[in-house]
Amino acid sequence: MSTMSESRVEHPSDPARRILVWDAPVRVFHWLFALSFAGAYLTAESERWRLVHVTLGYTVAGLVAFRLLWGLVGTRHARFRSFVRGPAAVRRYLQAMLRGSPPHSTGHNPAGAVAIVGLLTLAALVSVTGWATYEGIRGLSSEDLHELLANAMLALVVVHVAGVLLGSWLERENLVTAMFTGRKLGPLSRAITSSRAWVAALLLVAVGAFWAWQWQAAPPGSTAAPASNGSGEHRDHDDD
Ligand code: HEM
Ligand code: HEM
Repeated sequence: MSTMSESRVEHPSDPARRILVWDAPVRVFHWLFALSFAGAYLTAESERWRLVHVTLGYTVAGLVAFRLLWGLVGTRHARFRSFVRGPAAVRRYLQAMLRGSPPHSTGHNPAGAVAIVGLLTLAALVSVTGWATYEGIRGLSSEDLHELLANAMLALVVVHVAGVLLGSWLERENLVTAMFTGRKLGPLSRAITSSRAWVAALLLVAVGAFWAWQWQAAPPGSTAAPASNGSGEHRDHDDD
């Protein structure tokens, strides 16, 4: 179980060096998640791009499901129990951040973890309300709720990216590069031993296959009709 003691500890016998922290599935998940969210957001308004919007939205939903599973069975720093902390730890970390000297974390820092849980939760809610809107499931005014939640998620993404940049500066480590290479500073005893590249490859194949399937199932000459429902019984949307 992890605590603040997971921060980098300078033991002469185990000094901080560049070690493998993020496995390949976490990195592939991250950039697919960010790209799919950005793509879904950018295609949201136009009826012409509806199928792309829906495809990327479902991709976000699938990625959340994958990440929840990987948070249980993934490598050390990918597991939720290694980085999700209680409010007291988050408060302590934020106070240290305000003083300009947050402790270095080998995995996610406690404040970043809050944003991560928030992003995954919002992504799931945005996907469900998007699906309800698309399928014409009324009752709850899902259209407005969907847009509201998507905008709340965008706001949290801005906070997340700002937090990553601030954290990189205060912790004197480029966290963005680490999300590509998987390597961060830390004692060797905290390194993961395998990047689980085959899981990342499976994830890429699954997402690629889903996109290809959506592409070939799209009705010719139309990007608006769904591939997931042959009936085409969806309500029309105004294009503005
Ligand atoms: C250019 C934009 C982005 C950059 C530079 C970036 C960078 C990062 C970095 C460096 C981390 C690791 C933080 C740490 O060290 O604790 C991270 C984690 C994360 N980011 Fe981003 N991010 C970006 C966009 C996004 C977007 C758009 C989303 C959501 C839609 C997102 C969701 C997440 C999630 C869920 C994690 C946790 C990863 C995991 O443990 O699986 N990020 N991001
Ligand atoms: C991360 C994923 C998603 C994001 C960020 C997102 C974002 C948005 C936003 C901001 C709008 C409002 C556009 C506007 O009218 O200004 C919208 C509309 C819409 N979204 Fe999504 N969405 C996502 C996922 C989904 C999914 C999974 C579906 C369907 C399965 C979906 C279906 C729709 C539909 C049908 C509309 C049009 C609602 C209307 O008639 O105005 N979205 N989306």
